Amino acid sequence: MSYDFEREKLRVLSRLRYHGVTLTERMKDAFLKVPREEFVLPKYRDQAYVDTPLPILGGQTISAIHMVLIYISPVACNPKIGDTVLEVGAGSGYQAALFAEMVAPEGCKDPGHVYSLEIIPELAEFAKKNIERTGYADRVTILCKDGSKGYPEAAPFDIISVAAAGRKIPKPLIEQLKVNGRLVIPVGRYFYQELMLITKNKEGDIVKKNLGGVAFVPLTGEYA
Ligand SMILES: C[S@@+](CC[C@H](N)C(=O)[O-])C[C@H]1O[C@@H](n2cnc3c(N)ncnc32)[C@H](O)[C@@H]1O
Repeated sequence: MSYDFEREKLRVLSRLRYHGVTLTERMKDAFLKVPREEFVLPKYRDQAYVDTPLPILGGQTISAIHMVLIYISPVACNPKIGDTVLEVGAGSGYQAALFAEMVAPEGCKDPGHVYSLEIIPELAEFAKKNIERTGYADRVTILCKDGSKGYPEAAPFDIISVAAAGRKIPKPLIEQLKVNGRLVIPVGRYFYQELMLITKNKEGDIVKKNLGGVAFVPLTGEYA
């Protein structure tokens, strides 16, 4: 049986209100453009638009659709054209591609860039291939690195998006955030965390806001 992915995408979008996700036009356009079926393992291709995490390599998961959309929404990372994004936890590369659509849509003036770090080498390779195959390599750089240390080479960042749960907020990520930048990270223990939004004011003080309960795989690395 062959799947009509375009119809499946529209079906998922129509159900997002159950997760309390309010879609902007730009979020909707980004979601419709990025082919999630190209970022899942071939055996899960037919389930690409089921709104659930799916296994990828290395015992990790591609996040559920509503979760990646919450990250790119105005209440969380609020990405804008021209922003420089650091993503910690590339996984499949799917979220990085969605960020690319938000900060560097094709043909825009002054495009931003997405740096996406993955600590597991086979996943970094998987994400890189997915990004290249889907045509995002000019806007997304995938690197195999410990993202808990951030990426000082391209800092400071307008947005730091962490897709794995830390016991605390890694200090290097706060240091590498721009004034008025936004850091979104799940913080807590195994199985249950709070999704935290951290902003930095011009005095360098940080302000924290709890965006609600989530369940992510653990952040590993030096500052996890
Ligand atoms: C839920 S998955 C991310 C899903 C991804 N956003 C996607 O669209 O497929 C979390 C990822 O974070 C990675 N990770 C955990 N700790 C990390 C670290 N310190 N640096 C970089 N990646 C890390 C895991 O290996 C895993 O691939």
